[in-house]
Amino acid sequence: MTALYIERYLNWGLTREELQSGRPLIGIAQTGSDLSPCNRIHVELASRVRDGIRDAGGVPFEFPCHPIQETGRRPTAALDRNLSYLSLVEVLHGYPLDGVVLTTGCDKTTPALLMAAATADLPAIVLSGGPMLDGWRLLSSGEIGYSEFMDRVCASAPSPGQCSRTGTASEERAGLSCAAVPAPYRERAQYAYRTGQRAVGLVHEDLRPSAILTRPAFLNAIRASETSPEAIARHAQAELHDLPLLVNVIPSGQFLCESFYRAGGVPAAPLTVTGRSVAENDVIRTAAAPLRARAGFRARVGNLFDSALLKTREGVLEARAIVFEGPEDYHGRINDPELADCILFIRYVGPVGYPGSAEVVNMQPPDALISRGVDHLPYHVLESTSESPSILNASPEAAVGGALAILRTGDTVRLDVAAGSLDVVRCADGGEITPAVLEARWAEHVPPPLPSQTPWQEIYRATVGQLETGGCLELATRYKRV
Ligand code: FES
Repeated sequence: MTALYIERYLNWGLTREELQSGRPLIGIAQTGSDLSPCNRIHVELASRVRDGIRDAGGVPFEFPCHPIQETGRRPTAALDRNLSYLSLVEVLHGYPLDGVVLTTGCDKTTPALLMAAATADLPAIVLSGGPMLDGWRLLSSGEIGYSEFMDRVCASAPSPGQCSRTGTASEERAGLSCAAVPAPYRERAQYAYRTGQRAVGLVHEDLRPSAILTRPAFLNAIRASETSPEAIARHAQAELHDLPLLVNVIPSGQFLCESFYRAGGVPAAPLTVTGRSVAENDVIRTAAAPLRARAGFRARVGNLFDSALLKTREGVLEARAIVFEGPEDYHGRINDPELADCILFIRYVGPVGYPGSAEVVNMQPPDALISRGVDHLPYHVLESTSESPSILNASPEAAVGGALAILRTGDTVRLDVAAGSLDVVRCADGGEITPAVLEARWAEHVPPPLPSQTPWQEIYRATVGQLETGGCLELATRYKRV
């Protein structure tokens, strides 16, 4: 560390010997705060990380990251992913750190920090905060009062930690972390200590993300979850493809994360790919009998969009389209009895449209379905993400000129999952959809105003790519090893 830096770092109590003895300076990228409850456990875990760094001969430097909280951030937490990414790249590039511990948890914190580590290519290790203990699910097939509703809400989050279902938060981080141990377990604090120790080792070995975030590492991560870490892979310049889904955890399966951990956790899941059965249980399937043959795959044909992620079962379906102009429109009309036996399309919810891309996880099914015990949305197509069987990440989105903009309620759409296609085939009056009809609709189309509410929203909209390629800031993907 140069003399210029030393003066200010001495003033909080570090000694000259600590800074001049060649000991690695290890950053702790702190994502926990009162605003980020899913990651708040890191505020406590950081002391064990510091202990590990110290005992291994390093000097810890904890610093805050831009907070991200999936369910509390409006309009979308996805906006913060790229903002947190940008700010962490600047910290890792601009400050004299030799390595970094990335504290992850709530969905967008994980890709944000991993993307930054991939860009800066500084020795880095992930410490996940871990999922909360298994709670109770919220839905009721009968009427409940407000008091019981609140009891169920509280019971669904019984401890510190992340959501206890698979998603970005609870995936294994492509070889950089062990994410399955629940947050309150003592093993989590022990992991924190060892993570700090290992961070120092990574610096001595000069082991950088470019050597770890490889294509095989991403494939292992995808095997454990149906969420594609597409944005991280893009910043690490690794290519991905379709894989079977082995983990029987909500939203695709039946169990929660604590059960997954007890069944062997992430270390068990990749082993089953080789045909070795780790545990006799239903939580982790073998590659020969996966939960789903394909965890989700991209389709690239159709007259409504060029690309989408099909998270759905094989089949052919022809149905009436109901079009919603975003989540607010959905909430306002979802209990309309006219919406039975149709496919729901939710547009203007993509990276530019919402902006950031709206999470449909928080949208509830029609009351009629809930009262029958159904806890997922009817079949739907959208430009953002969802946990229910659906067609996701439709690109290009309507806000940037995608043809979803000219789909009309009452049109008939035809889905052929095996062929990977979704097309609008007939108008509401039964007339055929022809190029001339589409052209006439474009001529009549008036794009809705999409005002930005903050400067960052405007910058984000001007620079973000489509979800087909990870919703990255396109210019940022050109940078590596800054
Ligand atoms: Fe934070 Fe789910 S809302 S992990």
